Amino acid sequence: MVGLLLFLLAGKGHPKPAATSRDRDILLAIRKDWGSPPQLKSWDLTASLNYCTWNGVKCSGGGEGTVTELSLSGLSLTVPVPASVCVLKNLSSLDLSNNHLTGAFPAATLCACKQLRFLDLSHNQFSGPLPRDIDGLSSVMEHLNLSVNSFSGEVPPSVARFPTLKSLLLDTNHFTGAYPAAEISKLAQLDILTLGDNLFAQAPVPTEFAKLTKLTSLWMDAMDLTGEIPEALASLTELMLLSMHSNNLTGSIPAWVWQHRKLEYVDLSANSLSGELPRNVTAVSLIELDVSANQLTGEIPAGFGNLKDLEFMSLSENQFTGPIPASIGLLPQLRYIWIHGNRLSGELPLELGKHSPLVSLVVADNNLSGPLPETLCANGELNVIDVSNNSFSGELPANLGNCIKLDSLLISNSRFSGPIPTSLPIGLQQFRAENNRLSGPLPADMGKLSNLTHLSLRGNRITGPIP
Ligand SMILES: *[C@@H]1O[C@H](CO)[C@@H](O)[C@H](O)[C@H]1NC(C)=O
Ligand SMILES: *[C@@H]1O[C@H](CO)[C@@H](O)[C@H](O)[C@H]1NC(C)=O
Ligand SMILES: *[C@@H]1O[C@H](CO)[C@@H](O)[C@H](O)[C@H]1NC(C)=O
Ligand SMILES: *[C@@H]1O[C@H](CO)[C@@H](O)[C@H](O)[C@H]1NC(C)=O
Ligand SMILES: *[C@@H]1O[C@H](CO)[C@@H](O)[C@H](O)[C@H]1NC(C)=O
Ligand SMILES: *[C@@H]1O[C@H](CO)[C@@H](O)[C@H](O)[C@H]1NC(C)=O
Ligand SMILES: *[C@@H]1O[C@H](CO)[C@@H](O)[C@H](O)[C@H]1NC(C)=O
Repeated sequence: MVGLLLFLLAGKGHPKPAATSRDRDILLAIRKDWGSPPQLKSWDLTASLNYCTWNGVKCSGGGEGTVTELSLSGLSLTVPVPASVCVLKNLSSLDLSNNHLTGAFPAATLCACKQLRFLDLSHNQFSGPLPRDIDGLSSVMEHLNLSVNSFSGEVPPSVARFPTLKSLLLDTNHFTGAYPAAEISKLAQLDILTLGDNLFAQAPVPTEFAKLTKLTSLWMDAMDLTGEIPEALASLTELMLLSMHSNNLTGSIPAWVWQHRKLEYVDLSANSLSGELPRNVTAVSLIELDVSANQLTGEIPAGFGNLKDLEFMSLSENQFTGPIPASIGLLPQLRYIWIHGNRLSGELPLELGKHSPLVSLVVADNNLSGPLPETLCANGELNVIDVSNNSFSGELPANLGNCIKLDSLLISNSRFSGPIPTSLPIGLQQFRAENNRLSGPLPADMGKLSNLTHLSLRGNRITGPIP
């Protein structure tokens, strides 16, 4: 009777849908069922009457609407999500990522959320197998993120039985056996697919994935892939990220990797890829390229000069020969050049460091010759110079002191000559220059290098006292 009266009064004074106060009461019930954790302290009428302002609560249409999202990431929650959460009839997004949640996948609870489109359980400590009937989750699921947990067992085919799925993130778990490649390849709307860092049985890259033409991210690191990267994946023209590092891939890198214009991040490092790279490279959006630790041969393509956005280039630990193309010295964004452990020869590009904010130059273990370019310290961003084990010669650039951020200067085993520049970078921590032909006294400024922890100059012709 009192309830009816209140309802009528409320209905008169503040015309609102009945759902409104229900959602408030449901939130209070959820908080209680969850054991009233301090993280949900703001879920309290004394804090705010408007529950849509409570921590992590989002409503549709703003104000006191219906609750559509709970974003409870990074709250150190440890207690499992209570069943009452799905009493929120319009809940479409539930983010519980970056907490300390444990136990099995909370299927019984979450399958009751009939409007759920977005579920993020990533970065928790969930364990055990996924339920065979995980497709009992809402049929309108679009984003399922289970990455970085301890889920194990085989991935059930039902995980791909959501016709509108756009993201499927299963990486960094303990999944074993085969994963349901055929079912996944039917997810025509799929945008993001991550499977890497699992204990899957050794298997080739599924050619069926060629059907996933809307993919922008394909992440298959460290999951025991064998065989070649399929030519058929050339159909993935929307790809921005391709990562398959630390597998056992063989054969050459397919041409499409060097052509797809939307690719920004390519990491194929630590495989057994072989063959030469094409001269012409038209994947002009590349920002990071890592093909290190393979068995690639031939020359570094001059076409890398097209990669105007390239910031990170690692070609190290391969068998590349020939010179470093001059065009690489002109790239405007290049910060990291890691090409150590190859058989490169010739000189460093003339204006290296002048056109881009170079941070790290690691070219050790090659047969590079000539002097270090005067331009290396042009913008003062350099942090590491490692040119050890080459055939460099000439004097060290007099302006090395302009590299104010330099902490490692490694020039051992070359034929550098002349004096050590009078001003060395003040932050220097490592300076190794064994087995060169450096001569003359040490600079007086050397005593100011308070951070120097590794200094090695033997095998030179240095004279005079230590300052
Ligand atoms: C809430 O869900 C119901 C059906 O479950 C629907 O009729 C209603 O329009 C939804 N409200 C909002 C604001 O999404
Ligand atoms: C999980 O995946 C979803 C969907 O792709 C994404 O929006 C979300 O940011 C991811 N979560 C984390 C913690 O990265
Ligand atoms: C695959 O790669 C792993 C790690 O790189 C290595 O330990 C293993 O021997 C390789 N297996 C084969 C068959 O090449
Ligand atoms: C490089 O590829 C582009 C686009 O495919 C083409 O227009 C150009 O002629 C090619 N250049 C060379 C030198 O092959
Ligand atoms: C290294 O290059 C120099 C010429 O700069 C050449 O004389 C020498 O034979 C090369 N060494 C090796 C091991 O290729
Ligand atoms: C240079 O070569 C020596 C001997 O081959 C090796 O021990 C050392 O690790 C190499 N240094 C670098 C920086 O690659
Ligand atoms: C010396 O090292 C410390 C600790 O690594 C660092 O904070 C400081 O900036 C360094 N000094 C210079 C001059 O780089």
